Amino acid sequence: MIEDENITQEEYDALIKPYEEALAFVTLRLNGMDREYRTLSRNYPIHSMQQRIKSRGSIIRKLMNKGRSVSGSSAGECLTDIAGIRIIVYFEQDIYTVVKDLKKQQDVKVIKETDYVKNPKSNGYKSYHLVLNVPVYRMSENRFYPVELQIRTLSMDLWASMEHRICYKNWRGDDVPDDVKNMLKLYANGLETMEQDMYEQCLLGRNPG
Ligand code: GTP
Ligand code: MG
Repeated sequence: MIEDENITQEEYDALIKPYEEALAFVTLRLNGMDREYRTLSRNYPIHSMQQRIKSRGSIIRKLMNKGRSVSGSSAGECLTDIAGIRIIVYFEQDIYTVVKDLKKQQDVKVIKETDYVKNPKSNGYKSYHLVLNVPVYRMSENRFYPVELQIRTLSMDLWASMEHRICYKNWRGDDVPDDVKNMLKLYANGLETMEQDMYEQCLLGRNPG
């Protein structure tokens, strides 16, 4: 980091304010959708949701890793995940239900979309990523702010959480050894099979004889 480059606590507090509002906006929508799903069907898609505002330390680290200057304005320009929500659903099909229903809302714009479910990363990572642009109203101006959504099933979330723990803790950005890579792939496939079998059971239901 160049000496005069930093994001002070004060700058951080000012930076995240509109992102907090954008996060609250999307959370409200998602809670509404969840409530409706649960009223409509016993096979509601959403298991749970988590949200976070990126910490000051993570913002600084990410800008440095990207080789960008470290400042509040640079963070606003370069990062789309200052506000983030993770939606955990039951089955793969549920991901597409939630995405479809989110896209029906005309005041939220999708500005980035990556389907790592149909196209998993080479390490086995699966998740559906969406960046939404949502309006934040100020008396002086109206602006859109990004909120990053990660939509994944319970089993995809289990895998991603463990993979993050194992790889980040032990190897940071360095190459992960082949045996660990293979183990991760194996379990990614195993979890996928488990999820599909459970889905079939869920569709069939059990005939109590
Ligand atoms: P950055 O957001 O700049 O990192 O690049 P990008 O937009 O190309 O990233 P991408 O959409 O691939 O990933 C964004 C987020 O998804 C990450 O911050 C992680 O939370 C999650 N993610 C992506 N790849 C992996 C992975 O291989 N393992 C785990 N555990 N999480 C991942
Ligand atoms: Mg990203």
